[in-house]
Amino acid sequence: MSFTRDARIVSRELSRHYGESVRGRDAVIRQRPIEDLVEGLELRRLASGGGLQGRKLRRFVRRYLDSATRLHHPAYLAHQVAVPHPSGSLASMIDGFTNNAMAIYEMGPAAAAIEFFVVNWMLEKIGWPPSPSPRHHQVSAAYGGGVLTHGGSLANLTALLAARGRAAPRAWSDGAPADLALLAAAESHYSIARAAGIMGMGRAARYDLPVDAKGRIVPDSLPGVFRRVQEDGRRPLALVANACSTAVGTYDPLEEIGHACRERGIWLHVDGAHGASALVSPALRRLAAGIELADSVVWDAHKLMRTPTLCAAVLVRDARTLDSAFEQEASYLFHDKDQPGFDFIHRTVECTKAALGLRFFAVLASLGEAGLASYVERQFALAQEAYRFISGQPGFECAVEPEANILCFRVEGPDQLQLAIRSRLISRGSHYLSTAEFNGRRFLRITFMNPLTSMKDVALLVENVRELAAAP
Ligand SMILES: Cc1ncc(COP(=O)(O)O)c(C=O)c1O
Repeated sequence: MSFTRDARIVSRELSRHYGESVRGRDAVIRQRPIEDLVEGLELRRLASGGGLQGRKLRRFVRRYLDSATRLHHPAYLAHQVAVPHPSGSLASMIDGFTNNAMAIYEMGPAAAAIEFFVVNWMLEKIGWPPSPSPRHHQVSAAYGGGVLTHGGSLANLTALLAARGRAAPRAWSDGAPADLALLAAAESHYSIARAAGIMGMGRAARYDLPVDAKGRIVPDSLPGVFRRVQEDGRRPLALVANACSTAVGTYDPLEEIGHACRERGIWLHVDGAHGASALVSPALRRLAAGIELADSVVWDAHKLMRTPTLCAAVLVRDARTLDSAFEQEASYLFHDKDQPGFDFIHRTVECTKAALGLRFFAVLASLGEAGLASYVERQFALAQEAYRFISGQPGFECAVEPEANILCFRVEGPDQLQLAIRSRLISRGSHYLSTAEFNGRRFLRITFMNPLTSMKDVALLVENVRELAAAP
């Protein structure tokens, strides 16, 4: 079988790419025009002629990697995408090879068992009772539940559908009621507003929650917002809190928000896509204190847990709420059967699904819980150290003191200057960072994802930014 030979070719090329990346000598990002790439990768010729094996495969992979953005490069500081642990990458390969699509148990029993285990592991980190064996499900018992989805955006939609199941149990038959309201801060990830729109809730149904100078929801403002919603003749579908926010990485005060929601019977959804990973660290879990008061939590392993794209989790305090989020029938898949497992399909938008849990599990089993915790702690501490360093530089300013691994800063000058600096850094290929707006101003944004990034890289970045600010 040519697979063994070709797998060796691919792994050799990946190892070379990895070695070059971690040494940090090559450009972290190189964006050639798309037409040149279509041409240079010989896509048309390969598509018509076939034969992507052996030497052809080696050439193709080399060229592909040459134009890939290097996440393993220590100057990769841009987005909340995991720098994958090699064990997770190998798990992606196993999944790609076996392709156990796991819509239903029989399509991927091992993948389903791992998903069940991973969901329970996350539930326990939140502080919720895990599911007993799902086959012996007692619907009256209150225990947590969950499902893995292809990304945090889909996970947020799924959690809000579970909330709708409680607020409007007849929505699938009668349509979504017009009086539902969604309470969220403008700092929430855009996928929240998008999910609301998909669920038929327009802008008028969304209530922006007041925030403090760090972009965190102000709990004292909540009674006023609840009153306004009621006066407008609406019912809250859910209140969405962040753990942590996308732009600057701050955590909402979940304890106080949780109690306010409990008193009113309002569904609390915590978007922990990025920051729920603080729960793995005994030292950092205080950041998300009160998360157990939520009704639903979204937690992405493909952000802060070194897991290759994608592996997001929707977790609910009461498994029954997720079980009743969907009610469609599909006779070719859903029918009474005596099976030794459990179908996750009833809990998701997706039908065909990758073995998402395998990717994360391989990382967890490789690093161990302690290893994962020390990675998260290191990245959060690095953001703090970088904050102290950058704040002390003349002409530099940070948006807020970081709580997670996200740090926003800017140099003296207009928003356009920040964007121009980022553009120049990217075209040089020396540093890859992102930008974000916060409190009406544009900041350069670092997300410390790479376990090899150090203060040396931060110092070099500052030097580059200073030089570009003087002569953009
Ligand atoms: C807080 C938060 N929620 C949700 C998402 C969306 O996750 P995904 O990109 O996996 O769809 C993001 C992405 O950055 C995020 O930061």
